[in-house]
Amino acid sequence: MSKSKVTVVDHPLVRHKLTVMRDVSTSTKTFRHLMREIGSLLCYEATRDLALEPVEIETPLTRMQGEKLAGKKLVFSPILRSGMGLLEGMLDLVPSARVAHIGLYRDPKTLVAVEYYFKAPEDIADRQVIVIDPMLATANTAVAAVERLKEAGVKDLRLVVLLAAPEGIAHFHDAHPDCPIWTAAIDERLNDHGYIVPGLGDAGDRLYGTR
Ligand code: URA
Repeated sequence: MSKSKVTVVDHPLVRHKLTVMRDVSTSTKTFRHLMREIGSLLCYEATRDLALEPVEIETPLTRMQGEKLAGKKLVFSPILRSGMGLLEGMLDLVPSARVAHIGLYRDPKTLVAVEYYFKAPEDIADRQVIVIDPMLATANTAVAAVERLKEAGVKDLRLVVLLAAPEGIAHFHDAHPDCPIWTAAIDERLNDHGYIVPGLGDAGDRLYGTR
């Protein structure tokens, strides 16, 4: 199967906001706000090909044929906890989306993903699902999340991340060549602790002010 496609959303607004997020002197409040805003902008691109259906409506002047989203509502699947930061902005854009929370943490020694929570809509198998994981570093958590959703029967999957490391993209490609990725940037590399360089540090800590 061919490699999963990667789209870098390099709009000037995204690049500007991401630079402010990377800056170590940026406050928790600003970081959180920008994560939400970039969440909307990434979501806008990741949903560009959503199916539409014709609808008859009446404007103040005349009847016309408009368009509305077709099919079942989207599911956003944030990986706890940092996925929640992008989720807010994605829900700003698609407020009727359903949410499937996935609790996964990286074992600090092995960097392997361990699941501790999974709560999804019952009919998730019939829906399009966008997994949200801000930092595609080793990609262990994103790989595990997509595996978990495939186990639940989901066939139509996408991944939205804020930053990706080339190593993370390669790992994710190998595991899930059928799941396209949207990211605001692809950084240089991973360091020995599995952090993205230059990156922005620990996304969860910066989002919630826990360090
Ligand atoms: N998770 C983070 O929050 N930051 C990284 O750089 C890598 C993983």
